[in-house]
Amino acid sequence: MMLSTRPAGSPLTGELTPPGDKSISHRALIFALLAQGESRVTGLLESEDVNATANACRQLGMQIRREGEVLILDGVGRQGLSAPHGPLDMGNSGTAMRLLAGVLAAQNFESELFGDESLNRRPMARIIKPLALMGARIEAGKGGVPPLTIHGNPGLQGIDYPSPVASAQVKSCVLLAGLYAKGRTTVTEPLKSRDHTEKMLPAFGVKLSGSCGVTGGSRLRGTEIHVPADISSAAFFMVAATLVPDSDILLKNVGLNATRDGIVHVLRAMGADLTVQNPRCQGGEDVGDIRVRYSGRLNGLEIPLELIPSLIDELPVILALAAVSRGQTKLRGAQELRVKESDRLAVMARGLEALGVSLREYPDGMDIRGGAVGAGQVDGAGDHRCAMSFAVLGQVAASVLQISGAENINTSFPTFVSDLQRVGGNIAHSQGEHANA
Ligand code: S3P
Repeated sequence: MMLSTRPAGSPLTGELTPPGDKSISHRALIFALLAQGESRVTGLLESEDVNATANACRQLGMQIRREGEVLILDGVGRQGLSAPHGPLDMGNSGTAMRLLAGVLAAQNFESELFGDESLNRRPMARIIKPLALMGARIEAGKGGVPPLTIHGNPGLQGIDYPSPVASAQVKSCVLLAGLYAKGRTTVTEPLKSRDHTEKMLPAFGVKLSGSCGVTGGSRLRGTEIHVPADISSAAFFMVAATLVPDSDILLKNVGLNATRDGIVHVLRAMGADLTVQNPRCQGGEDVGDIRVRYSGRLNGLEIPLELIPSLIDELPVILALAAVSRGQTKLRGAQELRVKESDRLAVMARGLEALGVSLREYPDGMDIRGGAVGAGQVDGAGDHRCAMSFAVLGQVAASVLQISGAENINTSFPTFVSDLQRVGGNIAHSQGEHANA
């Protein structure tokens, strides 16, 4: 799929509730599967990634039905999963594959997980290693990539796992396996990654052991979950409204978990005008409405290393913003970007260079010298976040920007194009008309 943008001719205005949080949506489905009884979920993200998890949960025995705005998930209980009839398709989703692998490692049946071309290139050794330490038997392709064949072992042993990477997927995978293992399972990490798992397990009745541990045999009870809007999707609108002159938009009900809100700190430090209204707590997660107004003065900055895990998914759009900010932006410590849905450092660097941006790429980051951006063609390389980052930059590019490889925006944000059009952005599917031309 190809997108095409033109410079926004008028301010971005209005209110928008971005789609549900992807991380929280995956967890709500998987925890509900393991729970006894019914869970009721509102705000679940409806996108390809979350559908992959939902379909896998169905194949493992969970029934899902809708009553108006509420999804009703009929949990089967930790020991009630049925063996799937065939391989489970995880699509583009690393979260689906890594979290479900933790559950499947402890079952009394064998299962197979596969993904699309992008997912089938992503590293799984990071979960296979701790699961093997717990007694799991998992086979992967050469170099530790999917497909995974998981020979379930109901006799896993709890571990204290010092994860070498700050990864919520690794952490959550190990904790999910830990729910089945003998004794206690804990995870520590070099920097704190998103903590939705630790926040949501207690809502299902699981008592954590310390800040990041579980005791094997803990039972999950069905519960009610209200999924907030995804700050990672809101981020594109924060940056777009910051850039387009005289914009003023309100992003409603956005998750502001402290392990996810690095974008707010960095945008403010660059000179953006963001205010949080009506801050509140919703089911253990911080939530608020974010008002974003145009800011004419944006400066590059050195992104603090300790913030990287809390804005890891927002780095592509931050790099896009850096391209039109005054002075230099320096990013380091972000080598994880090379093993996301694409090599995001390479994809962003090639795209920005194509627009005439002066930059230098490093193994773990990039230096960008901001200025005006040109126009032409860039490649989102099948990576949803890179494609949407270019589309945002297109709102202030010199002229028409064509973005190829944009089909995967459906993995996280299927309504991105219409939402951007609705607040006044200038974007269209390439063959179509520009809504606000
Ligand atoms: C996620 C964790 C992060 C993030 C991904 C979602 C999660 O990945 O990039 O989009 O839901 O746990 P890592 O755990 O690999 O850092």
